[in-house]
Amino acid sequence: MKNYLKHHEWQIIEEGFDPHVNKVSESIFSIGNGRMGQRANFEEEYSGETLSGSYVAGVYYPDKTRVGWWKNGYPEYFAKVLNAPNWIGLRISIDNQKLDLAKCKVENFRRVLDMKTGLLERSFTATLPDGKIVSVHSKRFCSMANGEVGAIRYALTPVNFSSKAVLSIYVDADVVNKDSNYDEKFWEEVYKESTEGRGIVTAQTKKTLFHVTTGMKYNIESEGKKVDLSRINLEQREKYVGNVIQVDLNQGKEVIIYKFGAVLSSENHPKEKLVDACVRVLEEASAKGFDKLFAEHAAVWAHKWEGCDITIDGDVAAQQGIRFNIFQLTQTYTGEDERLNIGPKGFTGEKYGGSTYWDTEAYCLPFYLGTADQKVARNLLVYRYKHLPRAIENAKKLGFVDGAAFYPFVTMNGEECHNEWEITFEEIHRTSAMAYAIRDYINYTGDEGYFTEYGLEVLIGIARFWTQRVNWSAEKNKYVILGVTGPNEYENNVNNNWYTNYLGAWTLRFAQQAIDYVKKADAKRYAEISAKTNFNEKEETAKWKDIVEKMYYPKDDKRGVILQQDGFLDKELIPVSKLRPEDRPINQKWSWDRILRSCFIKQADVLQGIYLFEDDFDLDTIKKNFDFYEPMTVHESSLSPCVHVILASRLGYKERAYEFYLRTARLDLDDYNNDTEEGCHITSMAGTWMSVVKGFGGMTIKDGKLNLNPYTPDQWKSYSFRLEFRGRVLKIKVSKEKTETILESGSPLDIVLNGKILSVK
Ligand code: BGC
Repeated sequence: MKNYLKHHEWQIIEEGFDPHVNKVSESIFSIGNGRMGQRANFEEEYSGETLSGSYVAGVYYPDKTRVGWWKNGYPEYFAKVLNAPNWIGLRISIDNQKLDLAKCKVENFRRVLDMKTGLLERSFTATLPDGKIVSVHSKRFCSMANGEVGAIRYALTPVNFSSKAVLSIYVDADVVNKDSNYDEKFWEEVYKESTEGRGIVTAQTKKTLFHVTTGMKYNIESEGKKVDLSRINLEQREKYVGNVIQVDLNQGKEVIIYKFGAVLSSENHPKEKLVDACVRVLEEASAKGFDKLFAEHAAVWAHKWEGCDITIDGDVAAQQGIRFNIFQLTQTYTGEDERLNIGPKGFTGEKYGGSTYWDTEAYCLPFYLGTADQKVARNLLVYRYKHLPRAIENAKKLGFVDGAAFYPFVTMNGEECHNEWEITFEEIHRTSAMAYAIRDYINYTGDEGYFTEYGLEVLIGIARFWTQRVNWSAEKNKYVILGVTGPNEYENNVNNNWYTNYLGAWTLRFAQQAIDYVKKADAKRYAEISAKTNFNEKEETAKWKDIVEKMYYPKDDKRGVILQQDGFLDKELIPVSKLRPEDRPINQKWSWDRILRSCFIKQADVLQGIYLFEDDFDLDTIKKNFDFYEPMTVHESSLSPCVHVILASRLGYKERAYEFYLRTARLDLDDYNNDTEEGCHITSMAGTWMSVVKGFGGMTIKDGKLNLNPYTPDQWKSYSFRLEFRGRVLKIKVSKEKTETILESGSPLDIVLNGKILSVK
């Protein structure tokens, strides 16, 4: 855990330069706009520890799978989000000395991410080896108003000397991924051009053949006047274009470089038109100038914050934490493009391949349902609908038949690309996360028409998977599900993971519900779907019913708890509090063998199921299970604490709820799991939002009605959040004394506040 960032309501602030945390800061101070984004790498060269990262949404490389022992059914590749061509770079040399913070004395270093406006700023003074001192103040943003544009204002002042600086301003597509399986470079040059003040490189990804055109246009001002760019040297080498220019440095006088970047991909433009389009984007951006572009960008942020901000009064650390989470989620996924999704690291790092995980459906969806127009959440669902044929293929590869759909654990295009057998083959519960998302969406929005349009087809496919995956145990006289990994990845190849069995059987019930709805609402469409999916309603649903009735659920009657899986009680049951601090996190300190034998739970598993289906359990059952599992949970997945906040809140364990909340809200800001340098935990950030709204706010939907059961954590005076709900925008303000519900737009509605109907007008 680290604690080096200043607490502030709207800003993330780092003061003083500590190279040891630079990679952590690069992740935390990342900026993006849904189309592109980047880590907070320095503009100037830096020879110290750094992870370069610029990313373009939807552009990936299928890196050939690398595993110890090949198993039939493995995906051929792991889809990697690509470290994309770098448009931010500047090289600065003064009297043959590079400005490189690893080689200078650095003072007054300050890095600020202003979340209100999405602006990254950095300032410092650096003493070069010969004693010359320069001060720098840079500002950078990726425009929320135009997803293909970024801009930099880089001001350099010689403090104690006058001389000349050689500036090299460039676009570099000769970049690598740190996680490349075979140290291969993923980009090839297609085209480049450079002229005075401008440079463009088109690079293509090997195998997937995405084209990305990255351009820069810049101008330089010295003492308020534009520097003449006619005497520059053009620099070109493979995948690289730059301009080299000499400028006068006069003591105390600022030289400002304005650099505009354009990043366009063949996902959005025909390949042959990319360069022309890039030129247009660059010319428009530089004609507008930094200030105007920034004003447009900040206006979009202001609008976004209006819809999704959460305020917390009386606890700055918590306020900063929640805003940071919302900020990152908002800049990762804007919901405008249904081909895109939310990678677990967003635009902040390479880990997890930048692909789509079950995280989206199980954790992220509620955030977008609650804070954005319903079409945003719908787009996330349609994304999976479009991947249905691939999910059917994934199932086929593993031996399933007749249209069974097995959704991938990790994907870019619907095809499975996760390479660990325990997860790829065994973590099968994820396929039902897609079904749960349909329920969540319909429950929240009331848009049952979704069943008819897309939902039913998906549900038939997933139901077929479960029908074929269960087996009949003559011994138990029940259906069982063998050889699985539950959400708790610290147990592999177990039988009857309760969460998996519950989700499997629930999906069959839910698919039946969808059939009943569609048949009634639109018989013609039902006939169409039946024909398309070759659905034998009578036979197939009879089997579903049988499985639902005879599914086996492990439990321990003596303790009154659900069992995570068969044999769980054979383990030595030790609470996490008995672990020595030096043994934690166990995934970094223990052998895998030791982890598997232990009782320690990586992330909510039984409790995850109880959270998803809260209405199916009485409070006593929730309490017994929480009291049993919570002490054994190490929360080494960032997806875990939020579920515990929500259940602890239901049980009135306010202190515990608050502890878990801080852990999720400040997970990256305080680097709880010692891994933020690889990137931020974007998908768990949606869990932070849920912790406030569903945990402290007690928000649930019952029979189509919004229910709130709020309380205020002792550490806070009050808090407020907004909800988009069925065409209305509601603002909910909670304090220790009262809860106010304000209808900001839309027609009046009845909600249930603390168990009583309330008309909100
Ligand atoms: C968790 C998974 C999750 C993945 C990406 C893993 O550590 O165990 O449940 O999907 O991280 O967030």
